[in-house]
Amino acid sequence: MDLVAAAGTVRERAYAPYSGFRVGAALRGEAGAVFLGCNVENAAYPEGTCAEAGAIAAMIAGGETRIAEVAVIADSPRPVPPCGGCRQKLAEFAAPETLVTLATTGGTVERTTIGALLPGAFAQADMTAAEPGR
Ligand code: THU
Repeated sequence: MDLVAAAGTVRERAYAPYSGFRVGAALRGEAGAVFLGCNVENAAYPEGTCAEAGAIAAMIAGGETRIAEVAVIADSPRPVPPCGGCRQKLAEFAAPETLVTLATTGGTVERTTIGALLPGAFAQADMTAAEPGR
């Protein structure tokens, strides 16, 4: 499945009455299934969720925990850069080498990786010395 096309389709279903900025995300899990998400805004603005977060939630609900590839699309002047929080969320479930395709609805595409989007990401391995409960 073409991930950019899938992201473009789910973008149409975004609920973005406040920003008017609709975003679609599609990710392929390591087992091959594709999971979709769109941004869902709220009158209480901070309660809104990003497209990437929705796609990750769908993946976890679908029983997968590893991302093989991601695409994000919006009607933006440049291929839509994921927000900082979404970079961290994606990094939780993907390797630094995992491919990310950022796209505009106009057809401009940029290919990057999780590691390039969030170099030096904080990860579970950084907590090996921690003692839960203390
Ligand atoms: N948005 C996303 O869904 N993903 C991003 O990575 C960038 C921002 C959404 C959140 C909000 O609904 C709208 O775009 C404007 O910030």
